[in-house]
Amino acid sequence: MHLLPLPLLLFLLCSRAQSGEIIEGTECKPHSRPYMAYLEIVNFQGQLVTCGGFLIRQNFVLTAAHCAGRSITVILGVHNRKEKEDTWQKLQVVKQFPFPKYIHAISRHDIMLLKLKEKANLTLAVGTVPIPPSFYSVPPGTMCWVAGWGRTGVMKPGSDTLQEVKQRLMDPKVCNLFANFDHNLQLCVGNPRKKNSVFEGDSGAPLLCAGVAQGIVSYGRKDAKPPSVFTRISPYRRWIDEILKNN
Ligand SMILES: *[C@@H]1O[C@H](CO)[C@@H](O)[C@H](O)[C@H]1NC(C)=O
Repeated sequence: MHLLPLPLLLFLLCSRAQSGEIIEGTECKPHSRPYMAYLEIVNFQGQLVTCGGFLIRQNFVLTAAHCAGRSITVILGVHNRKEKEDTWQKLQVVKQFPFPKYIHAISRHDIMLLKLKEKANLTLAVGTVPIPPSFYSVPPGTMCWVAGWGRTGVMKPGSDTLQEVKQRLMDPKVCNLFANFDHNLQLCVGNPRKKNSVFEGDSGAPLLCAGVAQGIVSYGRKDAKPPSVFTRISPYRRWIDEILKNN
């Protein structure tokens, strides 16, 4: 008899999650997205909130600027956020770098770098993801993936396990319903005609297109129907490189 190696066995046991009316995502294969970071934040009002993020260097995580707070702890190697595993690496954030021109009221430049206290150990469950070069523009029609543990804030409970859903990159005019949508700085994500593909990802979670993180979950409609707005990463590539170089 053949014994399956343990990681493969876990993959086979991993099932489709057909939960809820809103989230029609699929539960990820555990640790199949090793760059995913779970952020525990004490916000400026002193409340505990959560966000998603992703590891781009061993000591830097990328997330949304609206996830800033008094203090942030990053946990890497997480599949079920309620079940601690040997794969977890918990790291303090020593410095938050929200984009200097971030405007909270209209969610413009909603991007932030987090410097970790130490370098994460690269393992099967923890690794980095590439980001695009400056001014690379990913075209509408591209199919991408969003992964996250659920929504930020107090209104709805998130998912305990990491979920993922396929999302289409839309033509910018589909996001005309958002008064402050800016095609040069943001991506319009999710087909409004698809009822079943709605996904409330954690703020700060990545949009992955062909294995490259092209966007960051920023905001959406109150009723959580698509489309939603993601911060583009490529226009900020030079700023990111500067911070990585100088810190
Ligand atoms: C990385 O591995 C070293 C050696 O096993 C350990 O001391 C350290 O705590 C690990 N770092 C993290 C972030 O888990």
